[in-house]
Amino acid sequence: MATILSRALAEETVTVDLTARTDEYKTLTLTKEDVVLIAVPSYSGRVPAIAATRLSQIQGHGARAILVCVYGNRAYEDTLVELRDTVLQAGFTVVAAVAAIAEHSIVRRYAAGRPDTTDEKELQSFARQICRKIDRADCREPNIPGHRPYRKAASAGLVPKATKACVQCGLCARECPTGAIDSHDAFRVDPKRCISCMRCITLCPHGARRINRLLLWMAGRMLKKACSERKSCEIFL
Ligand SMILES: Cc1cc2nc3c(=O)[nH]c(=O)nc-3n(C[C@H](O)[C@H](O)[C@H](O)COP(=O)(O)O)c2cc1C
Ligand code: SF4
Ligand code: SF4
Repeated sequence: MATILSRALAEETVTVDLTARTDEYKTLTLTKEDVVLIAVPSYSGRVPAIAATRLSQIQGHGARAILVCVYGNRAYEDTLVELRDTVLQAGFTVVAAVAAIAEHSIVRRYAAGRPDTTDEKELQSFARQICRKIDRADCREPNIPGHRPYRKAASAGLVPKATKACVQCGLCARECPTGAIDSHDAFRVDPKRCISCMRCITLCPHGARRINRLLLWMAGRMLKKACSERKSCEIFL
């Protein structure tokens, strides 16, 4: 989603990966001339706490921010408003916000295949509207939906485990955004650190990470009503 939007917004971009475990966020200083697309997934209708912490270390210095929340076709609830508050505190100016849908990273049959061509066209149209606003030097903040206090952050409680197919290559441990997987033994995971992002499952070249099938089935049933009907991307200008 972020890639589609950023390509439509600018020819040249620099990417900062908020999933990286690094101290370098503190050294990132922007200026009023910069336009920054800040994209986060919605987890339980909130900004993932680790993303909020990392974002709050960046020094915005008036850089114009386009906020993007990506959700799995259930709801994004307070994600955008929390993202707005976080980046404002970090010194950014918010000029636009987008809520967009992508495949649900836990129950992948929901929003499967999204973003699709319809989403892509919509996002390209959003990008044109945002460019026009920026060209007019219009820095008014949009009305962003959401509530304060934010809804209570809830953990999905689904911790992927390594299976016999694991060859201990260490990739999942290196790429885990929270450092939950032991770098010497991929079978050892700290459940308190795991945010159930499913990245280790997606990245494992051997298909060797799984979540408990019964819990996954239960999650699928719980989400069925809220996730089944197609939702559309939204823009706030
Ligand atoms: C822990 C967790 C919580 C989630 N909570 C929500 C939610 O509240 N609403 C929703 O529509 N999608 C939810 N999703 C789905 C993601 O927002 C969606 O799949 C998004 O595209 C994930 O992006 P990512 O793969 O970059 O993490 C959740 C996914 C995870 C892993
Ligand atoms: S990426 Fe897959 S194979 Fe490599 S250590 Fe992790 S689970 Fe094992
Ligand atoms: S789901 Fe995997 S990659 Fe994500 S936090 Fe948990 S262990 Fe790390």
